[in-house]
Amino acid sequence: MFNKILLAVDGSEHGLHAARVAAELARAVKAESLRIVVAYDPIPPYLGEPNLQQAIEARLVNAKAILEAAVDAVGKVPAKINTELIEGSPAEAIIEVAATRSSDVIVMGSRGRGRIAGALLGSNSQKVVSHALCPVLIVR
Ligand SMILES: Nc1ncnc2c1ncn2[C@@H]1O[C@H](COP(=O)(O)OP(=O)(O)O)[C@@H](O)[C@H]1O
Ligand SMILES: [Mg+2]
Repeated sequence: MFNKILLAVDGSEHGLHAARVAAELARAVKAESLRIVVAYDPIPPYLGEPNLQQAIEARLVNAKAILEAAVDAVGKVPAKINTELIEGSPAEAIIEVAATRSSDVIVMGSRGRGRIAGALLGSNSQKVVSHALCPVLIVR
């Protein structure tokens, strides 16, 4: 049923916790694939060179480090692990990847790197739960 798992991570401890749960799920159901997605913000074009190029590189290095930490947290799974770096709004990126890759379930944290005191559910989690076409597992 959960053959194709999509895991969304943002470099937060919540995201790593979601990674460990996604891995448990992958092992339990002997999933075929585990796709890990990191979305990054577009860089404002007004930065100008050489700052623009530096910002693009720094962003890529950061996103790759987030992916690597997630792959580590996932550990050994029977599933094939794919990774995707996508520019744009995290919620939209997650929903779109899930749709185009026909994911069976999205696994993500209840909170992320944002620090809005009192919010029970992060803004991206809220949007994905509301608009995704497949089941969503919000990890606490
Ligand atoms: N840029 C991102 N790329 C991929 N997944 C993300 C991204 N930002 C958030 N997520 C996922 O959404 C979860 C909740 O984060 P979010 O809704 O952004 O909460 P907050 O408002 O606390 O930052 C994270 O634990 C992670 O699983
Ligand atoms: Mg966030």
